[in-house]
Amino acid sequence: MDIFTITAAAYVLCTIPYDPLEHSTITSITVTSMTQSSTSTQAALAVGLILGATGVALLSWLQKQQQKQRFLDISDNSNNDCLESSLWLNTTTSSSTTTSSTSSSNEDDACIYLDYNGTTPIYPQVLQAMMPYLTQNYGNPSSSHVLGREPRRAVDQARKEIIQLLQETTSNNDNNNNIMDPSSIWFTSCGTESDNLAIQLALQSCSEKQAKKKPHIVTCNVEHAAVSAYLNVLVDQGACTVTRVPVDASGCVSSQAMIAAVRTKKTVLVTLMLANNESGALQPCQAVAAYCRRAGILFHTDAAQAVGKTSVALDRLGYPDMVSLVGHKIGAPKGVACLYVRPGSMQEHGRALHKHGVLMIGGAQEFGRRGGTENVPSIVGFGRAAAMAKDGLEKNAVHMHAMRARLLEKLQELLGKDMVRANGPEDPALRLPNTLSVGLKGVHSGDLLGCIGDKVAASAGATCHSTGAISSVLQAMKVPEEFARGTLRLSLGPKTTAKDVDKAAAIIAEAAKKQLGTA
Ligand SMILES: Cc1ncc(COP(=O)(O)O)c(C=O)c1O
Repeated sequence: MDIFTITAAAYVLCTIPYDPLEHSTITSITVTSMTQSSTSTQAALAVGLILGATGVALLSWLQKQQQKQRFLDISDNSNNDCLESSLWLNTTTSSSTTTSSTSSSNEDDACIYLDYNGTTPIYPQVLQAMMPYLTQNYGNPSSSHVLGREPRRAVDQARKEIIQLLQETTSNNDNNNNIMDPSSIWFTSCGTESDNLAIQLALQSCSEKQAKKKPHIVTCNVEHAAVSAYLNVLVDQGACTVTRVPVDASGCVSSQAMIAAVRTKKTVLVTLMLANNESGALQPCQAVAAYCRRAGILFHTDAAQAVGKTSVALDRLGYPDMVSLVGHKIGAPKGVACLYVRPGSMQEHGRALHKHGVLMIGGAQEFGRRGGTENVPSIVGFGRAAAMAKDGLEKNAVHMHAMRARLLEKLQELLGKDMVRANGPEDPALRLPNTLSVGLKGVHSGDLLGCIGDKVAASAGATCHSTGAISSVLQAMKVPEEFARGTLRLSLGPKTTAKDVDKAAAIIAEAAKKQLGTA
């Protein structure tokens, strides 16, 4: 066998259509033939093998390029029908454990998604905006070469889109907020990080005088664990003292009580959530923030649940110093969030912030204040979602408000008014338009959700599934136990339909009646 025969054989081998599943067969044929060859032909075979392997690799590369092009064709599709139909589907079919990716022929079996406060699907326009940064624009935004430029531009653009979401609704800005300063937005990995960061910023920037005594923080008693559990740890470590102001029966705290809890010399931070994740109750941030600004005390609000459902414009919030916003509550992916930090706020009233990072210490990203390479695709998605949240706010709020009212009405109709209690404020101006925390008398919500989990995706929110313990939020609101144990958190989105609502109400009511033995 001469070298030409071997090379020809290698060529034939490499022209066999490459299939990863067949690859092992090709390799074994080649190896077998090698062991049967003489030493002289082994060298020639090796050359052929190299040529063959090169051919296989080349074909594989070509195939990958074709696949990549098909992928990009989908993302570039301006109609976006494919993404649209797959992503706005009501998540899962009852027989499937994975997310539906195609238009279901059996949409009546689809699980109705009423857990938008838990997370939202990624909106198609958001995914479309992200695609180039998951594929060809993969450069590190900190790189000075050409591949770093587009990711850097995209991150800066997302910052602007989020700033626009916070832009005042009035043009009279005598607060000198300099909101358009891009360095007011610090990207983080999640809402929890943003909340922890806000607290650390207050502790690390406080004046020397305040640091010498134990710094004091004021908050309310229904904050998300990202604030409340972190404060518990800091208190245990002796880093600060905390006053938690109680909410009333509707889940709202009084602004006077918050202000009365401030100790002007010791308080370094007041942190008050804008909207509660379980009850949907809105807190009086505007009044408390305005007081804090006058008193020279930092004010932070966790707006994770409020964003996209109610205005987060800075003037409506009383010009806070810090605001936490979270991507996965407004159609961006999970794992991206930000903290707005009012420019100059860390340098006023004797405060000083060291140049190094605060929680994530490392590289010079985020203006040298948070180390770690930026999550470019998710940040881009977050920016797009923020723009959509701003543009669609009013229309979405009106729709979700109507759907929430319908859901409550249907449940009352099916179960009887005295069996159904809406927790949280009655006045729509005091609550989120999409959140229905509803207590079903005598029902165990964990068991109920266990029965209907394939048909309706909701959260007990209120009770721990296994122990049946009543949530701290419902306890703080003093919801009667017979309703608290049966509380469901039903949270709606911009695409929730009247049909979804009617069907979900019927499924919930049927399961409740079954559990109570009244079916
Ligand atoms: C009010 C509030 N704050 C903070 C968070 C924490 O956000 P993440 O899960 O992104 O850390 C959540 C999440 O549900 C929330 O509802």
